[in-house]
Parts: sequence; C-alpha cells; structure tokens
Amino acid sequence: MSSLDKKLVHSRIALPRRRLVTPLARVSLLLLALVFSTLLFFGDFSNPADSTTYAICSHGSNVYIVDALNSRTPCILVVGSFISDVGDLDSIQRRRKSTAPLEVKYIPDGAMIVPGISESHAHIMHYGLYRQIPLEVGRNISETVSFVENYIVSNPDIYNNMSKVIEGWGWDHTAWPESRFPTSADLDASPVIRGRSVMLRSKDGHGTWVSGRVLQEIRPLPHAVEGGVIVRDKKGKPIGKSLDRSLLGITLTTHVIGVFLDNAQDLLPIPEPTDEDYERRFSTTVQSALANGLTSIHDAKLDFRQLDFFKRKAAARKLPIRLYGMTNYDEGEEYWGNITKPQILSDDHRFSARSVKIVGDGSMRTGGAALYEPYTDNPNTNGFMRVSEATINRVIPLFLRDGWQVNVHAIGDRANGIVLDALESAFEDVDVAAMRPRLEHAQIMTKADTQRAGKIGVIASVQPTHVIDDMWYAEERIGPKRIKGLYAFRSLLNSGARITLGSDFPVETMNPLAGFYAAITRLSLDGRSPHGPGGWFPEQRLTRLEALRGMTIDPAYASFSESILGSLEPGKRADFVVLSQNIMTVPVSEIMNTTFLATVIDGIAVHGEI
Ligand SMILES: *[C@@H]1O[C@H](CO)[C@@H](O)[C@H](O)[C@H]1NC(C)=O
Ligand SMILES: *[C@@H]1O[C@H](CO)[C@@H](O)[C@H](O)[C@H]1NC(C)=O
Ligand SMILES: *[C@@H]1O[C@H](CO)[C@@H](O)[C@H](O)[C@H]1NC(C)=O
Ligand SMILES: *[C@@H]1O[C@H](CO)[C@@H](O)[C@H](O)[C@H]1NC(C)=O
Ligand SMILES: [Zn+2]
Repeated sequence: MSSLDKKLVHSRIALPRRRLVTPLARVSLLLLALVFSTLLFFGDFSNPADSTTYAICSHGSNVYIVDALNSRTPCILVVGSFISDVGDLDSIQRRRKSTAPLEVKYIPDGAMIVPGISESHAHIMHYGLYRQIPLEVGRNISETVSFVENYIVSNPDIYNNMSKVIEGWGWDHTAWPESRFPTSADLDASPVIRGRSVMLRSKDGHGTWVSGRVLQEIRPLPHAVEGGVIVRDKKGKPIGKSLDRSLLGITLTTHVIGVFLDNAQDLLPIPEPTDEDYERRFSTTVQSALANGLTSIHDAKLDFRQLDFFKRKAAARKLPIRLYGMTNYDEGEEYWGNITKPQILSDDHRFSARSVKIVGDGSMRTGGAALYEPYTDNPNTNGFMRVSEATINRVIPLFLRDGWQVNVHAIGDRANGIVLDALESAFEDVDVAAMRPRLEHAQIMTKADTQRAGKIGVIASVQPTHVIDDMWYAEERIGPKRIKGLYAFRSLLNSGARITLGSDFPVETMNPLAGFYAAITRLSLDGRSPHGPGGWFPEQRLTRLEALRGMTIDPAYASFSESILGSLEPGKRADFVVLSQNIMTVPVSEIMNTTFLATVIDGIAVHGEI
C-alpha cells in the first residue's frame, strides 16, 4: 500500500470521531466518505490526491525536460500525478499559490532526471514467459533443475495442479560443465517435477528440453522431422521407468532423451495460457521494466485474448505501467477493423490500443526478409512476404479508414516498399500522415523509399541494439550497395520521417541504455565495430539528444500521447526516471555503468526511492 493510500484510510477512519451534528454536515460527511471510498476503490495505482506535492531537484540543471527547445532545469514541481511547474527552487516557490511548506527532494550529485522512458516495440508476455524461471543463470544441470523446482513450489496454482504445464526459456548447455544435452531423466530426478509436464526452451530458441510426462503424451514419435531433430541417445541408457518402449525410437539401442531441435519442437503440445499465466508473465515483465526505467511499453503483438486481459486490467485501474497495444492481424482472418473499436487513451492515461500490427516479412538473420533482389550470400532467394501484397493493399486502407494506426513489421527493402505503396494508395480516402503509420523495424530501405517514408509521414520504429548485433554479418548477406540503406537512421530523419526507439525485448536486453548507446555509437558494448572504433557507418549515428527524444517524446508521439506524456512540461503526467549519472555528458564507454536510481509514475516511485 502506498503512503497515499494509508493517508486516505486514515482520514476515513478519523471522520466519524468528529462531533458534527447538523444534518448538512452529516450529508457532507457522507459525501466526503463516498469520495474517499471511491478514491480508495479506484485509487490502486492512479490519481493520488492533489495533496501529494513535492519539488525534486538536481544539483545543477540536470533535469532534462525534453521540450521543443531541449531545456534543462534544476527542479520540477510535482502536484498529485502531474508536473505542475519547472525551474529553480526559488522561482517555483514564488509562483506557488500555497503557503504550506514545500517538501523538497534532492537527487544525488551527478545524477540526472529524464522523462519516463518508453519502449516502442516489445513483447510483454513473451518476456514474462522467458524470464519467469531464471534458467539462463543455471551453472549446471542440477542447479537449473532446482530453479524449476523453486518455481513450482512458489506458485501454488502450479504446485497443487499436476496437470499444469510448466514452461521456461533460457538454458544453454554449452555453458555447463556436463558438456551434454540435458535429458528428461534430469528433470524427472526431482520428486517435485516427476510426473509433471515441463517444456524448457533453450536460450537461442532452437531447442526444447522436456520432462518424461511430455514424452509420454506425444507418443508415438516419428523417426525423423523435416528441418528438425528429435535428439536420441545411441548408447541406449534407460531414461526412466515411467516410459514405455514405444518411446525408444525405432531401434532398441536408441532412445529419445527429451530434447527437440528446430522444427521438431512443433511436435510439442504448447498449452493455451490461463489468466494466472498471464498475470505471472505480466508481473515478471513489469518488475524488470520498472527497474529499467520504463514507464511505458508498446506491445508489438497482442492477440485478442491478451488484448482482453489488458483491457480488464485497465478497466479495474490495475495497470502498474502504461501500455500501448498493437493488435495482431493475420492473413486469412476476417477483417475486424470495423467490429473492434480502437481504444483511445484511457482517463488515467495508462492504456490505449488503437493500432493494428501486420507482420509483413521475415527476418534478415534467417534470410526471410523480403528483398527486391536476391540475397548476396544466397542468390536462390529474395526472402518472402508472410502476408501477400494483395492482402496488404486491401486491409491497410480499410484499417486507416476505420481509425486504426497501421504498424507493419517490414525488414527487407521490398517489404518496406510494399507497405509504402499501400499507404499511398489510401491517400484519397484518409489523411494518412494524421494516422501516424509505423514501419516496425524499417531495416533495409532503398534511397527512394527512405524519401517516400518522409513524404508520407511514416514513423520508423527501430531497434538500435539490432544494429550492433547485425553489423558483423549483414554486408556479406546483402552486399555493399544495399548495406547503405540498412539501419540508416540519419537518412530517415533527413527525409522527414520520425524515429522511435525500442529493443524488441525479449529478443534483446530490455535496458534502454543499451539502445541509447548503440544508437549514438554504432559500436558493440566493448567498443568494436567492423569499421573500427569510430562506429559502423558512423554517419548514421543519432546524437544523444535525438536518442533521448527517441525514447521519450517520440514514442509518446508514436502512440498519440505526446500531449500528456513524453516530456516534463507542466500539465503532463509526472513520469520520470532518476539516472545515477548524466548520460548526455559521460564518455560513451561509461553509459552502460549508469544505474536506475528511481522510476516514478504519476508522481510515485515504483522502483527505487526519491
Ligand atoms: C552445480 O552448481 C552449483 C552452484 O555453483 C553447485 O552448488 C553444485 O554443487 C553444482 N552441482 C553439480 C552436480 O555440479
Ligand atoms: C489444472 O491445470 C489444467 C491445465 O492448465 C487446467 O485445465 C485445470 O483446470 C487445472 N485444475 C485446477 C483444479 O485448477
Ligand atoms: C466491415 O468492412 C468490411 C470491408 O469493407 C465489410 O465487408 C463489412 O461489411 C463491414 N462490416 C461492418 C459490420 O460494417
Ligand atoms: C564501467 O563498467 C566497465 C565494465 O563493467 C568497467 O570496466 C569500468 O571500470 C566501469 N567504470 C566505472 C567508472 O565504474
Ligand atoms: Zn518484435
């Protein structure tokens, strides 16, 4: 319970003790009580009473407002959930109407305040699923198994239900001293786990390690799977009493050990998540997000069940972080843009879901990004669209017409071009720029399309940490000409397009400082690049100010909330982050040493202390 809630409870208890006798007073008392109980009921996370007032100050002008002039100021005044004034303490005091003493908080020397950081492209439920069991820090097989046990024991809905499927992500057998794949027997050796269905994805996503019960449930297994491997043990060691012979492959001397690679993973029965699963995953993600300075997340792919889960949370005022939802549209689905209504920003500014996500093509790493010309390292393919050009041309104008922001995953130059064509074809019916369409990833773009993106008024939703992963192999894959249009952030800005920054977590770290660092250096975290220590295509670097705007005010614009979020201007929500040092001035090699001292939403510290 926040101190605010405590205050409210206190006032409510105190009221009846007063000796107020007139009927009028009794009525107002009742009304007051009503107001308080309403506040209590709805007041879980938002709308603290206006009485919470404080100034928070830095030594020096280390509060970055991120207004149009990129101003800095020593202090901000917070009243309730909002920023009410900015300036030095004296002028704030002078402008205050109230004579009540003002609580003044100071951040440590050298620390800074920035607006609440927003993640523009991430996958909330995936992150939660991947991190709920800390498999990636398991130092050997038995320690990793013990993490699974702990997870089961500490979640009663799982512990008490043997049918519940346990999912996790992140093991890496190459980091273990055993130097072998883990097996079903390793899991089943634990009395807590034995008899339960467990499916654990490897860190790179290419393998799944399962318990004996899962093996039993999916029998009989095929001998081989196209594009995948059912890992078998040639020595034929027994793998547990509970398994019968039909599991042991086609010969008696090989048997399934309980690891499925690549396409063989499709054999596994992944269950539909329950509401408890969603709660757990969401809360895992939120906990990490708040600790990483995030006050808002754009979820890049909600299905209708997840959308409904978040809608219910929003209606109950139980969202501990701001959310912007992109609802997924799959080819083959009925068009739903005129049946489902876009959710415009809620009163407490915590929730909206007014965009549709369409997955245009595959990824560059796997060769699935749709290119105009064949891949340089594989001339047999141009990649592929995951949704047909015809569907894109049909549904994009419809969604725009029905009031949806259209956000399309587009990585290859052809995918980006197709989306721009479709947006242009909607010009006659809609003010396309006003709908703020987004290219999610916008990785490889021709020069002409980069120009077009600016003209159309497109937002490029980019992930700078991908740059420093992909820079090592990308030129080999797409050649020396196209490489100039890969992650060409500066060219996009010059064309008039806007940029908004994200991480695509859990694909990359959720720490927004990694994106900030990558955007301004185009260097690996240890300071290297294929073009040397000056950075990979350094002419495409963002400035620190552009990168700071790209994680605060630009995502607010990209989610139609720039009038209330994204900067520390008076009248906006009091969302801000206290960083341990000034990322705008420290040497780049020190940026990743910065810690998040506090994350504040609606004026209240939700991580750390102020
Ligand atoms: C696994 O690692 C943990 C933590 O380092 C250690 O305590 C344990 O003894 C190890 N177990 C085996 C079997 O190596
Ligand atoms: C146990 O888990 C299964 C699978 O999630 C579910 O269908 C069932 O309703 C659960 N049983 C109880 C008593 O919660
Ligand atoms: C929704 O739009 C589609 C495509 O324009 C149309 O076929 C359908 O009749 C519309 N449905 C409603 C309920 O308006
Ligand atoms: C910053 O972090 C790096 C890597 O952990 C470390 O080598 C360096 O000493 C740190 N710098 C400071 C000033 O703490
Ligand atoms: Zn994504």
